[in-house]
Amino acid sequence: MAIHRLNLISLRNHKESEFSFSPGVTVIWGENGSGKTAVLEAINTLSFGQSFKTHRQRELINTEKKELFIRGEFFTRGQEDHVAAKISKISGQAIKLNGKNVHKRKDLLGRNIVVVLSPEEQDITKGPPIERRKFFDRIFSIVSPEYLKTLQGYSRTLKQRNSALIQLRENKITKEGLETWTRPLALYGTRLWGLRCKFMTDFKVLHAKASKQYDREIKTEIIYQHHGNNQEEYIEKLEKTIKRDLVLGRTEHGPHRDDVLAMWSGRNIKTFGSQGEHKLCLILLKLAELFFIKEKTGKTPTLLLDDLFDKLDLDRCKSIVRLLQEFETVSGHPVQTIVTTTDLINVEQSGLMSNIHDHRTYHLER
Ligand SMILES: Nc1ncnc2c1ncn2[C@@H]1O[C@H](COP(=O)(O)OP(=O)(O)O)[C@@H](O)[C@H]1O
Ligand SMILES: [Mg+2]
Repeated sequence: MAIHRLNLISLRNHKESEFSFSPGVTVIWGENGSGKTAVLEAINTLSFGQSFKTHRQRELINTEKKELFIRGEFFTRGQEDHVAAKISKISGQAIKLNGKNVHKRKDLLGRNIVVVLSPEEQDITKGPPIERRKFFDRIFSIVSPEYLKTLQGYSRTLKQRNSALIQLRENKITKEGLETWTRPLALYGTRLWGLRCKFMTDFKVLHAKASKQYDREIKTEIIYQHHGNNQEEYIEKLEKTIKRDLVLGRTEHGPHRDDVLAMWSGRNIKTFGSQGEHKLCLILLKLAELFFIKEKTGKTPTLLLDDLFDKLDLDRCKSIVRLLQEFETVSGHPVQTIVTTTDLINVEQSGLMSNIHDHRTYHLER
């Protein structure tokens, strides 16, 4: 997949900007606050329906404006997609794919795939479990419409059960009213656990491969933590814990409480990792994401590398570039890469631009 062109109007500090990307490497450079990350957020919105920096899309609208526009042209093996997003302070976000309104997430996901590597996402290794669930939910939803559907069904049912818990507490409904949600929740929950287990097993293999290729010395592993059970056990568990759920006003048992531990030299990175280790750990997760998406969909995502080479020593930078080039050779497809930096020389030294036939550079000013 490749993004060819991008237009932005009133997005963060961009009044009106236009970009035309290389099928190889495009470097966007400029000082901090010049709007580099914003360009990648825009591309991610067209690909995934959301920024990676915020879950409140309205934040992207320039503070002096009421609405913003993003337009992009993508190519995937002969197929050309025109994707447009409008975000309005009043009516929220609307996305059009080839002129038609996108009503369902599944119609957008998996079409023009990007993998983002940004310091804005460091919470995947540093933050609470929800950050890691979001990371994996995103990947699995991109490669599997069934996963997306199950996840949406589960989240919807969980919300309904949680509001039923509160209503029961306030005597607005009967116990039977709550119990109508038990079976559907257990059904979706068990399915979701099943799919997560399956995909996680495959992801682990590719993660181990990426780590080994990157640096044989690194010992890293991911552990999927969950309390999965079959549907009947699930229902039993919900019934047993109903008193606690009523007190809390929310459901405690289920895949919405899963976690994934990233282990680094046998220890949980979240608690013990140094800055550098966190950064590397995220890079390896993202490279595994690239491998995983390629394996499951056959498509090569566009890589969005936000400030990647910043605060990373030259040898590390070169290793990443070498790994990407190996991936290109093995898969036989070029990886379109869009990289932002404050320091152009740093990117040049990494070798990212040298072996590629085509590259382009943009300079942004504050
Ligand atoms: N909604 C907004 N309206 C106007 N300016 C914004 C908005 N959101 C962020 N900005 C500004 O836009 C700039 C863009 O930031 P960013 O894309 O993160 O820059 P970079 O990645 O180049 O450091 C920053 O200077 C920020 O203060
Ligand atoms: Mg930035």
